[in-house]
Amino acid sequence: MNAPTPLAEIAKDILRENDRGSYTVPTRGLYPFQWNWDSCLTALGQRHYDEARAWTEIETLFAHQWPCGMVPHIVFHVPDDGYFPGPGVWATGRPVPTSGITQPPVAGFALRRLYDRAQNRAEAATRVRALLPKVAAWHRWFFATRDPGGEGLVAIIHPWESGRDNSIDWDAALERVPTAGIAPYTRRDTQHADPEHRPTKAQYDRYLWLVEHFRELGWDTARLHDASPFQVVDPGFNAILLRAAADLADLAERLDAPEIAAENHRFVARGLAAMERLWSERHGQYLCRDRITGRLIDSASVGGLLAAFAAIPTARAARIAASIEAQGTRFRVPSHAPADPRFDAKRYWRGPVWLVVNYMIADGLARAGLAAAAAAITRSSLELIHENGFAEYYDPISGAPLGGDRFTWTAAMVLEFLAMEQA
Ligand code: GLC
Repeated sequence: MNAPTPLAEIAKDILRENDRGSYTVPTRGLYPFQWNWDSCLTALGQRHYDEARAWTEIETLFAHQWPCGMVPHIVFHVPDDGYFPGPGVWATGRPVPTSGITQPPVAGFALRRLYDRAQNRAEAATRVRALLPKVAAWHRWFFATRDPGGEGLVAIIHPWESGRDNSIDWDAALERVPTAGIAPYTRRDTQHADPEHRPTKAQYDRYLWLVEHFRELGWDTARLHDASPFQVVDPGFNAILLRAAADLADLAERLDAPEIAAENHRFVARGLAAMERLWSERHGQYLCRDRITGRLIDSASVGGLLAAFAAIPTARAARIAASIEAQGTRFRVPSHAPADPRFDAKRYWRGPVWLVVNYMIADGLARAGLAAAAAAITRSSLELIHENGFAEYYDPISGAPLGGDRFTWTAAMVLEFLAMEQA
């Protein structure tokens, strides 16, 4: 009998298969372009076999940064009818078409990890130095346009910006988004994946209304926040931004860019203080805040656990670890609290496990000194892959693979988890 192919080899094959030269698609068919946070996390997988290629992944993304500083959530490098909404719907007028909203700003974190672990030090220094001001401009853009009141945390203005597209967190706020007048459309995602595992039509209509509304405002990113009926402060998104800002500040100090360091240290100090206002003692985690009503959103999702990725107080991180432990699903970490009646084990971000989120939570818990809690997530993630392959997301109870197959960032995270296990 032949020995089974080691996970690391399968993971590398998937990354190579989805590699389009200077960027990587999340998976064939379902997602045929470059996605923002996918790419940054994918680079962490690529570094295990080709460091130069890993830097290129992030450079390509930043080559499509907008002059205002925003880094778009999708870059439509080549035409492909397999995805909706495509460049014609966004109509952002960019030289290479892009979407007009952003995604979790994990680039600063990815840069530091690539830099710290790089074998080729000279190349790493050159490449990170060129990216530093670009990431700094993105962070500056966030606080200028998405925190106009100066509270220290930024809002997302479209559920897709969160990266957790159809989370239960957005349901109530989305109710405020109208659907009248949207152009007729045909979804493509439900042709590639089971509709029961994807967002509903009612949600999709609202996603599109927001896109059309922002398009009518000429994609002037300085105006969109105030003009959006959807403004949510997500602790997970903000934790990613604050962690990235801390990592960028650290890099900037080492690479002699004191202004970038000082600016990002300020973002972190203010943001971490403001994050405390999102804490829920009852849920043992952070919650989203609806910026339009000013109220916390009673929805215990993985967004509030992901807060552990930033340097939150150690006692909070320990409580988050305990909350995860108490969830009791066979596989960690479900994207929504299983005890909540709205939990749905198979529908996208309303219950399933996603490896990228596991990775960031595990990293944060390890940094907070909670090694056992971090190791439990790593172990569970690798078991999930051993038993069920490299899917887009997974049922946390049965482990059933869901959504797209041979998924890029899942493969990248496996390489990282394997390295963490050996460390
Ligand atoms: C889905 C996910 C999002 C991801 C994209 C590409 O839209 O919700 O987080 O970036 O797919 O993988």
